[in-house]
Amino acid sequence: MVALAAVARVAVAARVGTDMSDVIRVEHLQRVYHLGTVDVPALRDIDFAIPEGQMVAIMGPSGSGKSTLLNLLGCLDRPSGGRYLLAGEDVGRKNDDELATVRNARIGFVFQNYNLLPQLTALENVELPLVYRGLPATKRRRMAEAALASVGLTDRKGHRPLELSGGQQQRVGVARALAGEPDVILADEPTGNLDSVSGQEVLRLFLELHRSGRTIIIVTHDDDVATYTERTIHLRDGVVVSDGEVPPEQRRGLDDERGAS
Ligand SMILES: Nc1ncnc2c1ncn2[C@@H]1O[C@H](COP(=O)(O)OP(=O)(O)O)[C@@H](O)[C@H]1O
Ligand SMILES: [Mg+2]
Repeated sequence: MVALAAVARVAVAARVGTDMSDVIRVEHLQRVYHLGTVDVPALRDIDFAIPEGQMVAIMGPSGSGKSTLLNLLGCLDRPSGGRYLLAGEDVGRKNDDELATVRNARIGFVFQNYNLLPQLTALENVELPLVYRGLPATKRRRMAEAALASVGLTDRKGHRPLELSGGQQQRVGVARALAGEPDVILADEPTGNLDSVSGQEVLRLFLELHRSGRTIIIVTHDDDVATYTERTIHLRDGVVVSDGEVPPEQRRGLDDERGAS
């Protein structure tokens, strides 16, 4: 039975022309903003696929469409044209409620300004997205504690954000993104507000997550961040101008950073 089901899945994948190992696939993706009578084409005809477990940097100058793309990938917005397949599912035509459900189940977000709620403890912040999933309290607590442990902050779980450094707050942000076991972690300038030492700590954390098999997409304009990733997609004026593997010898790993500090 199991083998038959696997064969059936492969057959379906072949028919629709997708590779089951691609967690994200965008085809002719477009997003046009309408400002009064003016159309602003923020993304024009974007195509790429991201296999499970890849760590990708999306780069480009201000206004090139990075945030627009991340909003689409994160199911915060819908394309004006083309298709977006997330884990094989076409999310472009879902209504707002369906999109919110997909987002909560499949996407973990990390924000430049952390977006932690100041009145909640670190643990409660990590637990919050799980509340929206309707999980039982004991299960939620266990998942949140495991996520905080994986970013090395068990001893800070009762602290509120203002009692933590910027780097620690961002690690709480990463734990929150992780806690629900998402298919993809999306980060928008995750080191943008951090000093270089804390920024490196957060990048090391992403590298560790990548090593453990997570799919991670980081939007950044920082060339330094991109040296940690295995692939870089460059946008300009809403199109992909380059998309390539970063050669291993130009990539930094966990071991480099141990030596550097
Ligand atoms: N809500 C919006 N309404 C109208 N135009 C927008 C909106 N958001 C972004 N844009 C325009 O879309 C283009 C891409 O913006 P954005 O995705 O924010 O780029 P980036 O994140 O790379 O700086 C820009 O020309 C920007 O002015
Ligand atoms: Mg932006």
